[in-house]
Amino acid sequence: MNLNLKGNKMSYQSVELNYEPEKICTQITDGKNRKYSEMTLFQQAFLCGLLKEKRPNKIVELGVSAGGTTAIILTCLKEIDCSCKMYSVDISEKWYRTNQKDTGFVAKEFMHQIVGKTEHKFVLGQEIAHVIDEIGDGIDFLILDTTHSMPGEYLDFLVCLPYLKEDCVVVLHDVIENHVICRDNEIATNLLFQLVQGNKWYMKENGLETFGFSNIAAVEVKKQQNMDSLFGGLSFSWLYMLKSEKKYMELIEKHYGEQYLIQFKNILALQKYTNIRKCINAHYNMDHDFLRLKWKNEKNVFLYGAGYWAEIYSEYAKINNLSFIGYVISDEQQIVDADKPVYKLKDLPYSPEDCSFILALDRKHFSLIRKNLVDKGYYKIL
Ligand SMILES: C[S@@+](CC[C@H](N)C(=O)[O-])C[C@H]1O[C@@H](n2cnc3c(N)ncnc32)[C@H](O)[C@@H]1O
Repeated sequence: MNLNLKGNKMSYQSVELNYEPEKICTQITDGKNRKYSEMTLFQQAFLCGLLKEKRPNKIVELGVSAGGTTAIILTCLKEIDCSCKMYSVDISEKWYRTNQKDTGFVAKEFMHQIVGKTEHKFVLGQEIAHVIDEIGDGIDFLILDTTHSMPGEYLDFLVCLPYLKEDCVVVLHDVIENHVICRDNEIATNLLFQLVQGNKWYMKENGLETFGFSNIAAVEVKKQQNMDSLFGGLSFSWLYMLKSEKKYMELIEKHYGEQYLIQFKNILALQKYTNIRKCINAHYNMDHDFLRLKWKNEKNVFLYGAGYWAEIYSEYAKINNLSFIGYVISDEQQIVDADKPVYKLKDLPYSPEDCSFILALDRKHFSLIRKNLVDKGYYKIL
């Protein structure tokens, strides 16, 4: 069935939906897969249809959660008598929803009944960039279902691409999640779906209030891609910054070369700068530029605070060439190590008319700190 929106037939492929594995799995697990899988019956049938059609040799599932979908995939592989390797990778060792049970607990509990000829391994607690060399190349089926926010699955796909076989099937979950949950940044899998080259599967899903658009898609990925456009896609705004940039840089240099490493570093710098300004906008509660103009014209600026927010303002100052003398903390606080002098308010060697402050601490303390400063004669608060 082709997607037919407003009469225009689109040229996506369709697959024979395979509902059987979910039904069999439901009997084995007494419905736990149904309770815990984060895919709808249609999405599971789409995934199992592709597994049946392609009979892969090496599967990587990225984003496991409770393992409800993992259990269905394994049941499907058993049903089609497929001997393959499968890696279920998740950044979290504990189920991200409660942090109590293990990630993949549904599949783990019923493993001996569902595993068939599949050599299955959980790889938990690390990002894909740290484990992809251990998994190795020859991947011919990849399922991406992690954060949905940029960089998320989009960047992880670039990490995996050099390890994929020609025409590897990449299944992308939550491609319209931004509409389903109305959060604008949840576009990582859809952006990838639009930019990556290869034959594509996309089918109409009835029953959702999304006008026929389903929340799952797949691409048969060519090794030869337009890397300029794939790396270009990384310039869409990121919701979060990477914890281990170094590993990503190493892999990008190794597989894509110097030219794309430079582009990646530039993108990281751009994303960080945007992120810091977004943080300041939210914390300062006004446009960061308003603060920047005031700050530029002041002589002796201090950041009030020496923790998380002070670090953000200090980074903002660096990027914008703004100067400040140091950090001020309340008299009852302990002096901490920092890149500039830290003063208790009572020891500040500046008179009130000679200095000004930026409140760089949790907003819940603002009124108290403001009152304390004003009580002590410090009236210039930017
Ligand atoms: C939406 S859930 C996955 C749902 C699962 N595929 C299913 O169908 O039931 C997202 C999972 O991705 C994991 N995750 C988040 N960021 C990740 C990352 N960068 N790498 C790997 N896993 C990640 C979370 O811990 C969580 O278990």
